[in-house]
Amino acid sequence: MLAVYAAAIDRDDPLSGLRIDDRPVPDVPDGWTTVKLRAASLNHHDLWSLRGVGLPEDRLPMILGCDAAGLDEEGNEVIVHSIINDPSWHGDETLDPRRSLLSERYQGTFADRVAVPRWNLLPKPAELSFEQASCLPTAWLTAYRMLFTRGAISPGSTVLVQGATGGVATALTVLGSSAGIRVWVTGRSEEKRAQALELGADEAFEPGARLPERVDAVMDTTGQATWAHSVRALKPGGKIVISGATTGDAPPAELTRIFFLQLSVLGSTMGTREELDRLVRFCVDKGVRPAISATLPLTEARQGFEAMLRGETAGKIVFTHS
Ligand SMILES: NC(=O)c1ccc[n+]([C@@H]2O[C@H](COP(=O)([O-])OP(=O)(O)OC[C@H]3O[C@@H](n4cnc5c(N)ncnc54)[C@H](OP(=O)(O)O)[C@@H]3O)[C@@H](O)[C@H]2O)c1
Repeated sequence: MLAVYAAAIDRDDPLSGLRIDDRPVPDVPDGWTTVKLRAASLNHHDLWSLRGVGLPEDRLPMILGCDAAGLDEEGNEVIVHSIINDPSWHGDETLDPRRSLLSERYQGTFADRVAVPRWNLLPKPAELSFEQASCLPTAWLTAYRMLFTRGAISPGSTVLVQGATGGVATALTVLGSSAGIRVWVTGRSEEKRAQALELGADEAFEPGARLPERVDAVMDTTGQATWAHSVRALKPGGKIVISGATTGDAPPAELTRIFFLQLSVLGSTMGTREELDRLVRFCVDKGVRPAISATLPLTEARQGFEAMLRGETAGKIVFTHS
């Protein structure tokens, strides 16, 4: 079957290990099933995999892709929850120390078919297209948990989102503004800041800008490049929710400011199947839809990877399967 996969790891030149070619149909263990892919969205995770983060060389070749929407074996329209748990695990799927995401230990979604545990399938509502549904399981679910579960942000609060046009950043902006949260963003260009305002952000600032007032919470996936600004942007007692470190994870810790102002730093990773179910319902009921910057056939996936590597996104990049 046609697949987009990592054939080699290169930390500095990640796309050198990317291949689009035939791969065997994945094995289907007991209790698992297969999904025929209709759409799958690209995440920064796929670039990390090509750099060897979370994907050791001995697991290659590995089909990339965490997110998918498609048809199950009975022809039902489904969305795939990407976290694969140890069979003995019960409870919050994100806390299982043995969990993995599709494309880390098991073959991913950028292919004609993906094998997953039956438990990982959710019905796709007719109101969402396959392309829209395929944006939800990673970037949008992560944003949902950051804002509503880990952050527990109340309507009327002011939240700073570090980043304007990335997958998680756009999801934070759209979900936050739809839930009555005042959303401020930082974006690296005038064009990116304008895109965030169009998506519902109330204000958009240059990275590191002095803000008109301190905020209740910061949502950060950028890491090193924005950490000091995130800490300085907060009111006393405020919180940072962090789910990524795209630019590195060794910034000065800002310990003094964190204890003196009694700030909270909250880690967040992906989301549970139940949270994905609630996110899907939220999108349907509120008419909220993921921002998609490009839709490409799977055969042209390399273009999407190149755009993400250059930081030229305006929401999610989606690969379609006929
Ligand atoms: N923990 C989890 O479960 C989880 C889930 C999803 C994602 N993540 C992590 O979160 C991060 C973002 O993921 P994504 O899929 O949203 O990625 P993406 O679509 O490539 O977005 C990258 C974001 O980083 C921002 N950014 C700011 N400064 C940057 C710089 N100097 N270099 C590169 N980017 C910069 C960009 O802002 P502009 O708008 O200004 O370009 C953009 O919003 C990744 O590190 C990913 O691994 C973690």
